[in-house]
Amino acid sequence: MDIPPPSDLPARVALVTAPMGVWGSFRTARRNLLGLIPEIATRQPIVSGRTGKRWHMVMDPEANRRILKDAVEDYPKSDVTKLILAPAIGQSLFIAEGQHWHWQRRAAAPAFSPRNVQALAPVMTAAAERAAGRIAAQAGRAADLHQEMVAATFEVISDVTFSGSEAFDRAAVHRAIDAYIAQTARVSFLDIVGAPMWVPRPGRLTSGPAMREMKRVADMAIEGRRQSGPRHPPDLLDLLLDGEDPETRRRMNTAELRDNLLTFIVAGHETTALTLAWALYLLAFDEGVQDRARTEAAGILGDRAATAADLPALPYLRQIVDESLRLYPPAAFLSRTARKPDRLCGREVRPGDTVMLPIYALHRNHLLWRDPDRFDPSRFADARAIDRFAYLPFGAGPRICIGASFALQEAVIILATLVARFRFRRVPGRTPDPVLILTLRPEGGVWLEVERI
Ligand code: HEM
Repeated sequence: MDIPPPSDLPARVALVTAPMGVWGSFRTARRNLLGLIPEIATRQPIVSGRTGKRWHMVMDPEANRRILKDAVEDYPKSDVTKLILAPAIGQSLFIAEGQHWHWQRRAAAPAFSPRNVQALAPVMTAAAERAAGRIAAQAGRAADLHQEMVAATFEVISDVTFSGSEAFDRAAVHRAIDAYIAQTARVSFLDIVGAPMWVPRPGRLTSGPAMREMKRVADMAIEGRRQSGPRHPPDLLDLLLDGEDPETRRRMNTAELRDNLLTFIVAGHETTALTLAWALYLLAFDEGVQDRARTEAAGILGDRAATAADLPALPYLRQIVDESLRLYPPAAFLSRTARKPDRLCGREVRPGDTVMLPIYALHRNHLLWRDPDRFDPSRFADARAIDRFAYLPFGAGPRICIGASFALQEAVIILATLVARFRFRRVPGRTPDPVLILTLRPEGGVWLEVERI
């Protein structure tokens, strides 16, 4: 059902133009959740319907502001989100609500302060250097840059969470998380259409042992660090161990620390890898943009890898990352459940309605973006020109991604390092397909010819 894109537009998905029944939706969603988004969602502010449950898709900045900020208490995260993620990450920051969310957010916030995120940059620089080494070994042929970016971002997140713990088997945790995501993501559609709880969700039945093992290993690593004391400079585990809610003085116990650290790994590494993989695809798609990026990066870096101190001198690289997050937002679909009667874009919302924010359609909505399917990093040359609630790769309001500046810093450091050293070219016939299964992935990988500069 995917149409080959016209050659001047990067990869996109053919959105549906005719209504689908429950069964049609089910089949589509198992393959690609993007297939549930109707084409009119890129031309209208709201689309509503009923597939088992009443639902609304919202693509309007004012309504987004209401859902995510002004009336945030009335739009808790949907049961879907909680059902999928709770077995892996408990009642951690990502899914907790109310008081239990609030104290954790306050306790974790200092770990992500600008100063602490900057202090973690050397880990990102080192991962960029190692990724460049691996890619250099593949120069002269095609490489799957998506796999390379997954490896690089997993190194970063595991080094800043459980670095140096002997008990922490990086490869085993990576496998457990991948298996978990692969199993649960495919059944999430049952939850979206509101299938009753007794319908078996295969992922949830089989993910048990891998998950238990991962939690056991993480607990051992946390206990080990309590004994050994903080590292210098402190990593995310040290900062969280040190974290305290200034209002209640509450600190996280081992289980809470573990659930939050696993949350950072699950929420942080694949999303950042996807940002980088799509950015590299886009640079190969438009070699003019790539040349300009290389001029900027190589001029600043010479032969060395990028550091946090270089970021202010790399504005075009940052625009490329911003534009990649617009065209291929890794978290392409946010979902809430309405708690109270309300009106959004003049439409009636009833308690229990599912309110979806299809970020993919928001970022390609013709009412909000000029020529939305086109790759044009210069849209972000003046960040103030972008409506805050029209561009939501990290969400917004009190539940905005806590790791946004961490992810942006990492993405620019790695991308700048790579583009300064390599030329990336498209491989004919290997355009990646955007597929949404929990995150927006390039199906088939991002295969690019790599040439050393
Ligand atoms: C490019 C990379 C990333 C993207 C696109 C992304 C996207 C998002 C989005 C859209 C949300 C809000 C979800 C909602 O409102 O339903 C979110 C929340 C969150 N993200 Fe990220 N994220 C990224 C990287 C990270 C990193 C690196 C970390 C941690 C190290 C992280 C940790 C979290 C946490 C803990 C939350 C929940 C915050 C709360 O509810 O208080 N994310 N992320």
